[in-house]
Amino acid sequence: MAELKKIAVLTSGGDSQGMNAAVRAVVRSAIYHGIDVFGIQRGYQGLLNQDIFPMTIRSVGDIIQRGGTILQSARCLEFLKPAGQQKGADILREYGIDGLVVIGGDGSYNGANKLSKLGIKTMGLPGTIDNDISFTDYTIGFDTAVSVVVDAINKLRDTMSSHERSSVVEVMGRHCGDIALHAGLASGAETILVPEMPFDLDEVADRMKDNFARGKRHSIIIVAEGVGKGEDIAQALKDRHASIDARVTVLGHIQRGGSPTPADRNLASRLGDFAVRKLIEGESGKACGIINGELTLTDIDLVVNSKKEFDLETYNLALRLSQ
Ligand code: ADP
Ligand code: F6P
Repeated sequence: MAELKKIAVLTSGGDSQGMNAAVRAVVRSAIYHGIDVFGIQRGYQGLLNQDIFPMTIRSVGDIIQRGGTILQSARCLEFLKPAGQQKGADILREYGIDGLVVIGGDGSYNGANKLSKLGIKTMGLPGTIDNDISFTDYTIGFDTAVSVVVDAINKLRDTMSSHERSSVVEVMGRHCGDIALHAGLASGAETILVPEMPFDLDEVADRMKDNFARGKRHSIIIVAEGVGKGEDIAQALKDRHASIDARVTVLGHIQRGGSPTPADRNLASRLGDFAVRKLIEGESGKACGIINGELTLTDIDLVVNSKKEFDLETYNLALRLSQ
């Protein structure tokens, strides 16, 4: 097995809280093991632009608590094409980089998979608030995003109760309802609309009306963005029952910002160190994850070709408890 001397790290796709903690862990773990580390600015775009610089222990000081990513992130169209991927692999070879850690979501994993097939040793770390990556229970940033949503709903409840209104809260999650589901369970939402589950707006509207008749003073409806716009859902509910006074809040990119929770920092720290150790052991083309508390390694090819299973049990629990 060839000895690993030089690795690089990049963050790509939508940023997420805890990416900085992951970068810190990769850099410090590599240096601890005597490996040189390079940072690549702005994801695959920075790779193609050769925006590559050496990192030291101090480059990652004072970042564990910060949201965003010091390496910045980008979406790179050129890298979607085979010529762009080949160029990226050639640049990594020119720099003598033997291993690449990619921190990002599903799209970024696809890019890492392509580089791996071109002979670059790659490791993927799940960095996305969406929690939409297979073969990991959690992604870095998800816990913080959920806590941002729950905090917002706590505030909405105060004013909605005073006015006996309903709150339609649109949260992120293009193809995955996990933010809606976990924030819904934690905040006692009456209705959770996610792309994975069919729903009937007539039933939702009737239940809201009944709830108010039974003495409830507010109603929270969480809508994952993959389902549609919160504004349209609110209008559809009001059209069904004139008594429904629904106000819409779109939380948007607020969900992607702020200091990462301890859970996200610790997950990122564990996964970042794990990725480096596995590269040293000669692993490549793998995605790092956490399943039942244990760190895991899965072929990235399998991860990008699998759809994350929806947690039906938690969904049913949230509905049962919100009566
Ligand atoms: P995320 O990683 O958060 O899912 P994107 O889907 O935007 O975000 O992907 C981030 C970047 O990864 C893209 O801009 C592109 O450069 C690269 N990428 C995405 N899909 C592929 C693919 N199928 N092949 C190669 N690179 C890809
Ligand atoms: O994938 C993460 C995510 O935050 C999604 O939940 C959301 O749909 C998307 O990124 C928004 O992306 P952009 O950065 O292009 O606004």
